[in-house]
Amino acid sequence: MTRDNNFEIFLATVPGLETVLCAEVRGKGFKQPKPVPGGVVIRGGWPEVWRANLWIRGAGRVLARIDSFRAVHLAQLDSRARRVVWDSVLRPDVPFRVEASCAGSRIYHSGAAAERIETAIRETLGASSSPDAGVVVMVRIEHDICTISVDTSGDPLHKRGYKEAVNAAPMRETMASLFLQQCGYNGTEPVFDPMCGSGTFVIEAAEIAARLNPGRSRHFAFEHLATFEAAAWQRMRDVRSMRTPAVRFYGSDRDAGAISMSRANAERAGVADYTEFRLGTISECQPPAGPPGLVIVNPPYGTRLGDKNKLLPLYRALGQTLSGRFAGWRVGVITSEPKLAYATGLPFLPTSAPVPHGGLRVSLFQTGPLP
Ligand SMILES: C[S@@+](CC[C@H](N)C(=O)[O-])C[C@H]1O[C@@H](n2cnc3c(N)ncnc32)[C@H](O)[C@@H]1O
Repeated sequence: MTRDNNFEIFLATVPGLETVLCAEVRGKGFKQPKPVPGGVVIRGGWPEVWRANLWIRGAGRVLARIDSFRAVHLAQLDSRARRVVWDSVLRPDVPFRVEASCAGSRIYHSGAAAERIETAIRETLGASSSPDAGVVVMVRIEHDICTISVDTSGDPLHKRGYKEAVNAAPMRETMASLFLQQCGYNGTEPVFDPMCGSGTFVIEAAEIAARLNPGRSRHFAFEHLATFEAAAWQRMRDVRSMRTPAVRFYGSDRDAGAISMSRANAERAGVADYTEFRLGTISECQPPAGPPGLVIVNPPYGTRLGDKNKLLPLYRALGQTLSGRFAGWRVGVITSEPKLAYATGLPFLPTSAPVPHGGLRVSLFQTGPLP
């Protein structure tokens, strides 16, 4: 399949955000992206795999589908796995590991399935397996169909490579970018996060406006595959599309540590010139000078019983500040608690379905331009 330039490429996201991711993938010129449960499927060759890892902000990882066949018992899985052309994708000198899952199939023991595939690869390719290998073969057996993919990303894609400093509850960059997109953000308006924590929304927004590729400063698992062409990858990475944004991106937080963290992260991301971070509580916030834009914020939501009521005054203060001072701005609030969101008193549009984040289910509550 190495020379093949029309295989299935799966871009994973959290359930509930597939169509938002699909819109991004289409907008970046990938052909006929299709939303499926848990992600988006495109077709292409290895350059599309590299480009998806480099360009797409919303995907958590990118998998290359390398084979698919029917298997109803382990002996069949074993013999069929030995006919996969492993050396067209994996390298004999690079250790690998296998992760398997089974659903609704006669083969139901994922550990045994993984072990069969691992042995087949070891014995036909000559590569060694290791529990901490960076190259991961992912096997999914669903309704007796075994699909074999290679994870081409390695570290999950929300690790952009700039964030050394994180606070207690950071928003994943991938999700932050999808929420920005859901709020209609396209890189041309200012963005303000009044509880910015480590600065994720502000930095993502600035990068989008500056047309910086999210994968520009990190490595990927595909660099260790047999299909990798270093010179072609280098050329792809070196295409500079950067532009200077016409507007600025703002964050504030009541915690001094969060502000210095955000500044350091923005510096490392190369967007310090377009971002401003200030110490201040939500009640002290003033809209930045210039045209209105988008306020996006994920306030603390609390995980323990009782936290919810303690947080009501904070959400009320957020609502008062925004409705009193931010006329013309749109607002996006991400929280796990509808009761807290409604405590802001903001005129929310219909809410989309909750999506999993950090062990909770969070929803985006958004408004049109505030009166
Ligand atoms: C869930 S975190 C935000 C995480 C952030 N989106 C990120 O990706 O790092 C909530 C933030 O709200 C801040 N915060 C809590 N109460 C505040 C208040 N009254 N005024 C301003 N910031 C506040 C906390 O310091 C914390 O950084």
